[in-house]
Amino acid sequence: MTRPSLFAPLTLGAIETKNRVFMAPLTRCRATPETLAPNSMIAEYYAQRASAGLIVSEATQILPTGQGYPNTPGIYSAEQEAGWRLVADAVHAKGGKIVAQLWHVGAISHPDFQPNGALPVTASSGFNPGGTTYTQHGKKDRVAARGLETHEVHEYIAAYKHSAEVAKRAGLDGVEIHSANGYLLEQFIRDCSNQRADQFGGSIENRIRFTLAAVDAAVAVFGAGRVGIRLSPVSAANQSMRDSNPQATYGALVEALALRKLAYVHFIEGNTGGARDLAGFDFRWAKKTLAASGVAYIANNKYDRAIAIDAIENGTADAIAFGVPFISNPDLSERLEQNAPLNDANPKTFYSAGSAGYTDYPKL
Ligand SMILES: Cc1cc2nc3c(=O)[nH]c(=O)nc-3n(C[C@H](O)[C@H](O)[C@H](O)COP(=O)(O)O)c2cc1C
Repeated sequence: MTRPSLFAPLTLGAIETKNRVFMAPLTRCRATPETLAPNSMIAEYYAQRASAGLIVSEATQILPTGQGYPNTPGIYSAEQEAGWRLVADAVHAKGGKIVAQLWHVGAISHPDFQPNGALPVTASSGFNPGGTTYTQHGKKDRVAARGLETHEVHEYIAAYKHSAEVAKRAGLDGVEIHSANGYLLEQFIRDCSNQRADQFGGSIENRIRFTLAAVDAAVAVFGAGRVGIRLSPVSAANQSMRDSNPQATYGALVEALALRKLAYVHFIEGNTGGARDLAGFDFRWAKKTLAASGVAYIANNKYDRAIAIDAIENGTADAIAFGVPFISNPDLSERLEQNAPLNDANPKTFYSAGSAGYTDYPKL
């Protein structure tokens, strides 16, 4: 049997990809400020990267309360739907595929972003992730957030469904539920931030219920074959505290996701943007468990060409998502295939405005 190649096609549920070099979700803070809608510059940026097997869009908030960074796009209004259609059409015209990463930042937000300056929402009142949030008025210390009432959690699940409907009408190829990096769904999953006494807190089964309900809401719209999810079982990103037992917590979640036969589960291996580290959670077990149900395993975090080729050939991942390398190399797939040199990325323009450091990185 020939071993699979990083450059060979892959079937992810109902999505066919032309290679296994995927673009990781990358927040770039360039939506139109008045509407938080994607615009023609954003469409051009994604179209430039359409040779990726699959593009996972920058995180896009499902509700106004879900915003935690300036000018991140939303996916709930008519203007935003029209903006995502620009993006979907531009990527498809270049032969690419793109899913939207559905996001709510929870306690990572700040009253400056909230309707009427309210407290940000989270699993349990009083949770403050610490650190600072960059608002439209500069850097601000994070505050203790407000726990969602049970009926509000159900409203948020409906909001995930609404956003999946917007994504579908806009012509996107599917959605990825963002359940990683310390944001709202992870604030429910981890016992450091969830002290709820209702069906969304306490036992592991209860703590993963909101995430699974968000997944099921997206599946109701797109079918399981066009829904993926992102997890960061051992990352402390955006959150100073960790789950007391990532293996048990995320193990139960992976088993529930395998049963749902999703298109894929996308893992950040280790600390997001830090060293790729497999300690604390058995990523190899997750790969096998998902494979037994036909669910693809997408790996991310500090992969380079050699490690990515090796991971695909050895079957430890079905596809590799590249983050920073895709910022500075719109044609990353071609460069990796040809073993060509890569452009360096400039972190100063990661979250700035305009086309500099956005649509001006050269192709080969
Ligand atoms: C500028 C920037 C923006 C990011 N935005 C997101 C995001 O919107 N959603 C997400 O899940 N991860 C986000 N991440 C994390 C990346 O998807 C990825 O996990 C990380 O960069 C590690 O992968 P890499 O080593 O290939 O860059 C972001 C990272 C960077 C550098």
